[in-house]
Amino acid sequence: MHYKINTYGCQMNVHESERIAHSLEKLGYTETKEDNFDIIVFNTCCIRDTAEQKILGHIGKLKKIKRANPKLIIAIVGCMSSQKGKAEELRSKYPYIDIILGANNLEDLENAILNLQNNHKKTFLTPDDDKPQVIEDVEYTRTSMPNAWVNIMYGCNNFCTYCIVPYVRGRERSRKPESIIAECTELINQGYKEITLLGQNVNSYGNDFEDKRIDFAGLLERLAQIPGDHRIRFMTSHPKDLNEKVIDIIAKYDTLCKNIHLPIQSGSNNILTAMNRHYTRDKYLEIVKKIREKMPLCGITTDIMVGFPGESERDFEDTLDIVKQVKFSGAFTYIYSPRKGTPASLMEQIPYEIKSQRIQKLIKTQNQITKELSKNYEGKIYRVLVEDAKDDGKLCGRTDCGRLVTFSGDKAFIGSFKNVLITKSQSASLFGEITEEK
Ligand code: SAH
Ligand code: SF4
Ligand code: F3S
Repeated sequence: MHYKINTYGCQMNVHESERIAHSLEKLGYTETKEDNFDIIVFNTCCIRDTAEQKILGHIGKLKKIKRANPKLIIAIVGCMSSQKGKAEELRSKYPYIDIILGANNLEDLENAILNLQNNHKKTFLTPDDDKPQVIEDVEYTRTSMPNAWVNIMYGCNNFCTYCIVPYVRGRERSRKPESIIAECTELINQGYKEITLLGQNVNSYGNDFEDKRIDFAGLLERLAQIPGDHRIRFMTSHPKDLNEKVIDIIAKYDTLCKNIHLPIQSGSNNILTAMNRHYTRDKYLEIVKKIREKMPLCGITTDIMVGFPGESERDFEDTLDIVKQVKFSGAFTYIYSPRKGTPASLMEQIPYEIKSQRIQKLIKTQNQITKELSKNYEGKIYRVLVEDAKDDGKLCGRTDCGRLVTFSGDKAFIGSFKNVLITKSQSASLFGEITEEK
């Protein structure tokens, strides 16, 4: 019996697919990359319409396969199915779906499969409870050695006006610090070399504890003190909440990567207000200044959106301007996509041609910056965690500040730290060779 999981969306989903894999393996399924699956799980995303359309296209293609093999189990889980009314819509459009679960009820997957196998009962479940309990002892079939994902909190309270996440993931719930520390310690003892802490807004970690016993800075410090040769990353930080205390802790410990993902979304104060982001461009620039004062080599990456309702040419120019000022080491750029049920979807929309022109301009600007920054790496030595081998046999890994480097070496080096001299750069790509020097 074989399973296949199609994962869409963010790191959170990538990690939750490791949980789904564990559930399926417990039931006796083994993974397949081919088409011989007996169960297929779609772990879905709905952050933009393009994500949804892609998934719906894939589900549509299963109709024929299911007809040829009625025993095939089709399960749709995750953010897309958590949207209001979506489960019903999916059921009527694709009646061959067997299981639908929301992002907050993945723990029901095993029972849903057993119910189907034993009682021929389909399960369609999406949460109406806004604040489901945090389950601490989740088991995962991890697939990303030497990196491990660790969820520190679920949900989001911010309600940025463009964003669907708070509606599909519910309110912020933090995991207990003791559980997180125990999980990280165990992973490090198992040989994982890099841990990435996950949360929609990690800086509000602990806000939901009534006794306020710990905050994100406190958690980071505790994790940084776990002995061993490893490093810790985290995402995502919100500019309204990233404070000096956190910056100081990152600066203080070598185990904490000097790499901060700090989505700016827009460089225009008008748009930031309309987005409900609770910071101004000056506040953002001030945080960047503080980070760089304390950690001059810290990589700062970002998410930027163009075409939010009401974005004028002037607003867009403000975005380009701040991109040039900050010089991000990397940026994920998006065209705003109206999401049903969010306030921005009701505002007056911008024509697609304008959005398309703006994103091209933005990408061009950022590419130029990335290229210039890459040049600065040439001739310098960085400590790199060897993560993987590519098809051409070359190894790849990341610097502490988050840059991907390609170099030659033995596959046996995967999972160890090596010093790499950067010999060449090409736009966003860095190439190097392993060296004994530091
Ligand atoms: N919690 C994180 C990221 C969540 S989603 C944060 O607050 O930064 C990842 C990115 O998708 C966002 O940073 C945003 O840039 C983009 N995004 C979210 N909703 C979007 C929408 N409706 N249209 C286009 N991009 C969107
Ligand atoms: Fe969405 Fe904003 Fe929450 Fe990020 S902080 S998940 S963009 S609502
Ligand atoms: Fe998508 Fe859900 Fe992540 S909507 S971006 S998978 S939190």
